[in-house]
Amino acid sequence: MSQQEQWKSKIGFVLAAAGSAIGLGAIWKFPYVAGTGGGGAFFLIFLVFTLVLGMPLLLGEFMIGRMGQSDPIQTYSKLASNPKWNFIGKIGVFTSFVLLSFYSVVGGWIILYIIKILSGGLAGLSQDQYGQLFGEIISEPYSTILAQLAFMLITIFVVAQGVQKGIELASKVMMPALLILFIALVIRSLSLDGAMEGVKFLLVPDFSKLTSESILFALGQAFFTLSLGVSVMLTYASYLPKTQNLPQSGISIIILNVVIALLAGLAIFPGVFSFGLEPNAGPVLIFSVLPAVFSQMPFGMLFFLAFLILFLFAALTSAFSMIEIIVAAVTKNDVSKRKKTTWIIGILIFIVGIPSCLSYGLLSDAKLFDKTIFDLMDYAVSNILMPLGALLISIFVSRKIPKAELFAELKKGSNVGYAFFSICYFSLKYIVPIAIIVVFIDAAGVSDWILALFNI
Ligand code: PHE
Repeated sequence: MSQQEQWKSKIGFVLAAAGSAIGLGAIWKFPYVAGTGGGGAFFLIFLVFTLVLGMPLLLGEFMIGRMGQSDPIQTYSKLASNPKWNFIGKIGVFTSFVLLSFYSVVGGWIILYIIKILSGGLAGLSQDQYGQLFGEIISEPYSTILAQLAFMLITIFVVAQGVQKGIELASKVMMPALLILFIALVIRSLSLDGAMEGVKFLLVPDFSKLTSESILFALGQAFFTLSLGVSVMLTYASYLPKTQNLPQSGISIIILNVVIALLAGLAIFPGVFSFGLEPNAGPVLIFSVLPAVFSQMPFGMLFFLAFLILFLFAALTSAFSMIEIIVAAVTKNDVSKRKKTTWIIGILIFIVGIPSCLSYGLLSDAKLFDKTIFDLMDYAVSNILMPLGALLISIFVSRKIPKAELFAELKKGSNVGYAFFSICYFSLKYIVPIAIIVVFIDAAGVSDWILALFNI
């Protein structure tokens, strides 16, 4: 019988789970999907999804994870006493694999920016030149692949050390530092000329800008930033003792995550408007706006370097969690197999990610449904596989596990009230599945077909 690993401290778990949550999703993706999806209205819908769907799901994964004390695949069969439920875990492990294959590409970009700063190639450019530079950096095949490899090697190295030594320590240092630097950055951004335009764009909702597609993106984004629907949070909770306060941990993670996304938005949009850029510029947004904001500060490049290092840490702590669940599923928590398995899986992920890496250069013309390989992977993971996983988990938790057992689990380590639990349970049973299905159907254009039918 293998020994289940455990977190060293209570705060260690919160930081590691927050580390999984906070990553490219909140810092890089949120500003650009909000920029494309309608600014304030998008942010509001994202917040509602985070609270109404994200929080119950997060607690749902925590409860069954700690209940099952097993890996992301066997937890389901163990709790349902039926191996056929394993498929939820298998979908999660598959999703995580695909996710890390393109996530590591962006991780590599951050490494390339760090190298660029250190070689002095980033200071004193004009706004346009920063945008151009980004295009040049990400289209160069060899360096991007090497950087992606470097990102994967760090991930493999840390996760091979095991849960508490590697993941917990890294998260403990990085999270507070990231928060402090972000606050400094926001203060700088807010003092730019015309900064208020950007703040308004992010915080004042204009619902006429919302489309079915942007609602789907807000849903995907809410799950993506909280690492939900892939059994990552379930796996992290499986390493917990029964004394951990689950509701409190969950709420702290959600608040931290929203705060970081908000800070990222407040750091970027004032710059966007002050420099006269388009908020819907896409993935380039953070990489072209932030260097320009930083370059106007004293010691700007030094600050930007610090920012990039923390940004890299944030991406890494998320990557750790993605590979961790695959390793946990394959080794079935047998510690002796951890090292070798982590290496094999990590290298496989790197290889699968190469076409995504080349999507912005050599393979930029390889398109399916008008999307590059990178965009296709991202779309499949964020807007289809993760919401699907979330749907299945909500059904599993609320319909396969007796309500009383769930409440008993949630109460261990906390004195959470029955009312709070009931609201979460109700959401898991009805609101989460219905919302996901409705958003899916709507985004697939089914509502338009139905309307068209009635018009005939
Ligand atoms: N939450 C991470 C981020 O925002 C992404 C992630 C998704 C991590 C799913 C693990 C599982 O960057």
